Amino acid sequence: MNNSKAVSVLFGLIVGVISTLTALLLGVSEGINLLTAAIISFSSSTLLFAIITENLFDKKISEIYSSFEKIRNKDFETVESDTSLLREINPLKGINQEIYSYASLKQLEIDELKRLETFRREFLQDVSHELKTPLFSAQGFVHTLLDNINADKEIREKFLKKAAKSLDYLDLLVKDLLTISQMETGEIKMKMEAFDIIPLIDETVEQIEPIALSKKINVSVVKKDWKSVIVLADYYRIFQVLKNLLSNAIKYSKDNSNIEIQIEKRKKVVNISVEDSGIGIPKNDRKRIFERFYRIEKSRSKKRGGTGLGLAIVKHIIEGHKTKIKLKSKINQGSIFSFNLKLAPNKKKKKKSLAKILRKTEVEPV
Ligand SMILES: Nc1ncnc2c1ncn2[C@@H]1O[C@H](COP(=O)(O)OP(=O)(O)OP(=O)(O)O)[C@@H](O)[C@H]1O
Ligand SMILES: [Mg+2]
Repeated sequence: MNNSKAVSVLFGLIVGVISTLTALLLGVSEGINLLTAAIISFSSSTLLFAIITENLFDKKISEIYSSFEKIRNKDFETVESDTSLLREINPLKGINQEIYSYASLKQLEIDELKRLETFRREFLQDVSHELKTPLFSAQGFVHTLLDNINADKEIREKFLKKAAKSLDYLDLLVKDLLTISQMETGEIKMKMEAFDIIPLIDETVEQIEPIALSKKINVSVVKKDWKSVIVLADYYRIFQVLKNLLSNAIKYSKDNSNIEIQIEKRKKVVNISVEDSGIGIPKNDRKRIFERFYRIEKSRSKKRGGTGLGLAIVKHIIEGHKTKIKLKSKINQGSIFSFNLKLAPNKKKKKKSLAKILRKTEVEPV
């Protein structure tokens, strides 16, 4: 017999005794009648008490136990919320749900903290790994120089140039890292303003043209008949996006190929795409290339001098404009990166000059 059944029997016995004594006091003296009254009151009160305890307490307590079991197994989906009158009457029903929702909330917090901790650990590992390479090589060149202080001027110059190249790369890496970490922590906010995107595209192409020419790559802008396309965006950050996409298009294309920037004005947005006819991106890598430090072929990309942060920065900027970066690609045929920008509702625009902005901006363009 479990505890609640024993309590029910005890309760039945007490009620039986009390009702027999009451019957005696009221003058019932027949033994048979007294016995019948005692049995009836004992069994009915035992039954009543058993039903009450079973429904109000036993069931709920075993539900609380099974909730603990579910919480232990991180199963937070099977408890439905109960707002019925029964919940008001029976506080145990409420307690069960309170425990459950509190535990599921805490579990969510724990999962988020674990995710952030993994992110922080991986970021730190990635950063120290990436910083090591240029730092060690600059250190190596400087020490070689010190060991050969009396060597020819030409040899000394060669080592100095190599050390300088590694340090320039280190500088670029630190700037990119700063940008990305400020974007991830939300320190960098987009400065939205209305401006014409066409001159910005033309100026970005002009800036990047010397690199394209060194590979005999032709960069053309297809803008149909649009004289001006006024967008609502962050001028400098969109310049960074265009510069990154264009520099990738050049970096990952063969000599003598073509790159095309298309401007497609739609109802409320303008679609901008950068298309190359380069090496293309394998399907499995298409999502991952937007992760920081992800390079498809580590050695090949490193040779091309990238930090592996360009597309991660692009993604952050584009998402900061509440839109998405899209990618279509075919191996050995080329890739198209595209995104939408909101058209400015009124046609008022500020006259912008890239040269002026770059002079004013503390962070160098990526
Ligand atoms: N247009 C493209 N065609 C082919 N592969 C590309 C293209 N753009 C990016 N990739 C691949 O995606 C990877 C990530 O690009 P991302 O721009 O982030 O880094 P990166 O170019 O190596 O360095 P950087 O930080 O200097 O831009 C590259 O290393 C390259 O493997
Ligand atoms: Mg890049």
